[in-house]
Amino acid sequence: MPRRPYIAANWKMHKTVSEAAEFVDALLPKIAATQHDVVICPSFLALSEVIERSRGSAVRVAAQNMHEEESGAFTGEVSAPMLVELDVDAVVLGHSERRQYFGETDDSLARKVPAALAAGLEPILCIGESEEARDAGQTEGVLERQLQADLAKVEPGRVPEIVIAYEPIWAIGTGRTATPEQAQETIAFIRDALRERGAAGDSVRILYGGSVKPSNAAELMAQPDIDGALVGGASLDPDDFAAIVEAA
Ligand code: PGA
Repeated sequence: MPRRPYIAANWKMHKTVSEAAEFVDALLPKIAATQHDVVICPSFLALSEVIERSRGSAVRVAAQNMHEEESGAFTGEVSAPMLVELDVDAVVLGHSERRQYFGETDDSLARKVPAALAAGLEPILCIGESEEARDAGQTEGVLERQLQADLAKVEPGRVPEIVIAYEPIWAIGTGRTATPEQAQETIAFIRDALRERGAAGDSVRILYGGSVKPSNAAELMAQPDIDGALVGGASLDPDDFAAIVEAA
């Protein structure tokens, strides 16, 4: 079975509810013919608005984070059942900004990934190496450790339900994109590592993220193991994002 292209817009802390509404209204006619999975990841506050406005379209909606418990005394947090009740489809987990600025650990991801699956949310698990790790030749070791830790409590049979986003930290928001060859080589390594864990590595969708834009999207996504993109900066503009969807 070919893997369906998957293009996700990670808005990070951008767009108010009304700005989100405006974006969806502008985007939908531009992607009306797409057969790809198109996913928008707005702030928690704009989830409902994006869900309601995009009903009946190709757009699916993801949160940018969640807590691993279903409920409890965790001030400021949001749980999987809260997202599911809104009809959220997916959730980004382990984004490097969460790891870097908000203390997200592999330990908590080992609980969040199965919690998302158990609730019926598709986890979009982000992994990636720092510039120092790449320069020191440690890219594969870092990715291997992240996969091992973050998927530790996931049954191999459920791994194909997870979307993996490979995002080299040095390419996020820097304008410095991994070359298509670098991204392909690293994503092929991730696929092999999943196969070695006994998971159906061939059916897992693996995205590239890090300074994807209309001008480099086609070349990246033409690589045999790259199934789509997690797009930050260029996803804030409906024309740019639609062009990336079209390039996939
Ligand atoms: P960027 O962000 O496209 O702005 O580099 C990607 C991401 O952080 O998901």
